[in-house]
Amino acid sequence: MLLLYSQEKLKKKSYTKIMKYLILTLTFLLSLHAHFDEEDLYNFEKKCSICHDTYVQNDMAPPIVAINQRYKKFYGKDLDLSVSKIRDFLIQPSYEKAIMHPAIKLYDLMPKQKLSQKEIEAFSEIIMLLDFEVPEWFDKHYESHNLNDEKK
Ligand code: HEC
Repeated sequence: MLLLYSQEKLKKKSYTKIMKYLILTLTFLLSLHAHFDEEDLYNFEKKCSICHDTYVQNDMAPPIVAINQRYKKFYGKDLDLSVSKIRDFLIQPSYEKAIMHPAIKLYDLMPKQKLSQKEIEAFSEIIMLLDFEVPEWFDKHYESHNLNDEKK
């Protein structure tokens, strides 16, 4: 049983790209009273990165790193404010709550996701508190979609 459990854990670990380099950040963040754990990171990868992959450019949604940067730019240094705005958006996405309007034009409004209260809290923090790697294609993507204004 124990063996099964640890194998399952290992599988999860190798599957989760984010966790490769974020465990240390996580330990650091937990000391800052963040409310998410390893399980939340795993679920975030499964439920959100499917559309919001930061590493592979896709036609489904902006990468997580873009959301992180956009919210920082829009709401400033107060990350708690961004976290609470993302929380509101996840409870019920709407055009009025959204701040990535060019992304809505490109991909349509994000469909509401089935999430527990705990996941909503955790995922909002994951987006704002972790440092996501900026992929190589990122700048080109902004140029090609004329999003440079939004990036600022
Ligand atoms: C089916 C694809 C899909 C899935 C799955 C998905 N999203 Fe999105 N998301 C989008 C699209 C498309 C946008 C851009 C349009 C928009 O802003 O509504 C978006 C935008 C966002 C935004 C920015 C909203 C704004 O405009 O201010 C946040 C935050 C977000 N997603 C969080 C999440 C989280 C957390 C998850 C996982 C629970 C998730 N998304 C899962 C498609 C998806």
